[in-house]
Amino acid sequence: MCGLVGYTGNRVASEVLIKGLARLEYRGYDSAGVACVRGGELAVVRRVGKLVNLRTALDGAPIVSTVGIGHTRWATHGRPSEENAHPHCDCTGRIALVHNGIIENYLELRDELAAAGHILRSETDTEAIVHLVESYYDGDLAQAVAKSIRRLEGSYALAVIHLDDPGTIVAARRDSPLIIGTANGENIVASDIPAVLEYTREVVVLNDGQIAIVTPDDVRVVDVNLEPVEPEMMHVEWDLDAAEKGGYEDFMLKEIHEQPTALRETLRGRFVDGEIELSELKMTPSEVSAIDRVFIIACGTSFHAGLVAKNLIERWARIPVEVQVSSEFRYNDPIVDDETLVVAITQSGETADTLAGVREARERGAKVIAITNVVGSRVTRESDGVIYTHAGPEIGVAATKTFTAQIAALNVLALKLAQAKGTLGSEEVERIWLELSTLPDVVEAILANTGDLEACAEEYVDAASSLFLGRGIGVPVAMEGALKLKEISYIHAEAYAAGEMKHGPIALITDEVPVVVVATQGHTYEKVVSNIQEVRARGAQVIAVATAGDDEIRQHAEHVLMVPRTSEALSAIPATVPLQLLSYHIAKKRGCNVDQPRNLAKSVTVE
Ligand code: M6R
Repeated sequence: MCGLVGYTGNRVASEVLIKGLARLEYRGYDSAGVACVRGGELAVVRRVGKLVNLRTALDGAPIVSTVGIGHTRWATHGRPSEENAHPHCDCTGRIALVHNGIIENYLELRDELAAAGHILRSETDTEAIVHLVESYYDGDLAQAVAKSIRRLEGSYALAVIHLDDPGTIVAARRDSPLIIGTANGENIVASDIPAVLEYTREVVVLNDGQIAIVTPDDVRVVDVNLEPVEPEMMHVEWDLDAAEKGGYEDFMLKEIHEQPTALRETLRGRFVDGEIELSELKMTPSEVSAIDRVFIIACGTSFHAGLVAKNLIERWARIPVEVQVSSEFRYNDPIVDDETLVVAITQSGETADTLAGVREARERGAKVIAITNVVGSRVTRESDGVIYTHAGPEIGVAATKTFTAQIAALNVLALKLAQAKGTLGSEEVERIWLELSTLPDVVEAILANTGDLEACAEEYVDAASSLFLGRGIGVPVAMEGALKLKEISYIHAEAYAAGEMKHGPIALITDEVPVVVVATQGHTYEKVVSNIQEVRARGAQVIAVATAGDDEIRQHAEHVLMVPRTSEALSAIPATVPLQLLSYHIAKKRGCNVDQPRNLAKSVTVE
């Protein structure tokens, strides 16, 4: 999971590359580098660490060139170091290449290349590719790339330049994203759309097995046999502003505040003439009503959305739902068949574990519906149907607006299933829909009045460990709250079903372990209050997320984060928002980089 950019046109290439890489830094930031054609040589500059290190190096020694490739790395093969940073060059120093993905047979290839006399200088899988290109090159770069990719097992998005053909970038992909922004007299290859938005909204989406030969005036797409292919064009609706911070201190805070819009957009047009509109399922009403089992696969935050969906689908449609983390699913010999609906939830649409699960499910005959935020992402090409969350690009590594948008989309799916099964009457569906439609306003109200959230964050800024508790639909909310806190503040956080706490985790309670409790109104509210008393009796400091008007809870908690009243089924979205903000403020007060937490990357394209 790295970010790559290539530029050919009439601007200073290194400046375009640096700007593009800055918009892709969410894909990894272990090292960064560029290679540009400068006269009769390749100028290669690479630096370990964040992009700022590369930018500083280039500021000190600008490269005059109008064609180049750049890369920001999330290390897989080989530690973060300058030798392992991309671009990698061949033995002659005339070819440079950047890569996103993993080459599974790289050891075999490296051995073969070394035996043939190639000098490999890094520990990476990528370097094998550039030497392969060198070995196949006989004057036609596209042909050499085509021959090389036939030798690769694994995933790749590549951009390659050669001194012999100074205005040209050859790009190729399999199982890793790659697009080409097309503009007048200049073209930009990139891993993701934000990198090209400053220059164009017209994009060629490169598909698996395709190669693009990119010059300032042309993008020619061919297959691996170099036969011409009609390029798949796309017009991007997002403007650059949507991909930038919009005045907030961090992307994460901006994205938390974008939730009302994300929810509105995701719910838009989903209730038409008394029917839940979900034509993306691509199933007849009788096929939908025949679904007797749902399997949800996802990772991280998306997994938590899946747990919320289980609660909703079982509650409303009375269909049994199993939720598994994708990395376990495919190895568990899952019991899925053509009667099972498999729902793959993935914000990025590129998560390798989830994609592998999708393939596994389809091989077993299941119908797979993807829920994703990224148009044209891998999962959209591999699933039978796609439900988009319209949350806009999420740059912060910690998922926020995409989580609540996923829950909104899953509410729609659960209602659709209930309607098809006849487990909810039309009046009940309409009543729930009307309430669901108010959630953007509910979230807006929470964001407008955050009460003593910052003071609360201040109090727990030095905590070493914390517990998050909830019951029912509050359990995945607690799990997501704990994940947010641990990933951005590095405070240990453990989530538990509140009733389970007395079976072990209660031993962790001291007056130094804050306990965050999801205590919104619902049929287990009294039980949750009892659990709060159990932890308080052992000295815990309690932060409760509670329903506005619940004055009783104040006697039981040091801090209360109030959210407007909703029905229990719809409480997950409002209850999540204060927990996102709590984690955000704690992490900021600890001086953490909330947008790029250590060791993480936005899309995890390795298994
Ligand atoms: O793109 P995906 O939804 O498939 O990503 C899944 C996880 O990698 C992601 O949710 C991760 O846990 C985030 N760091 C959560 O904030």
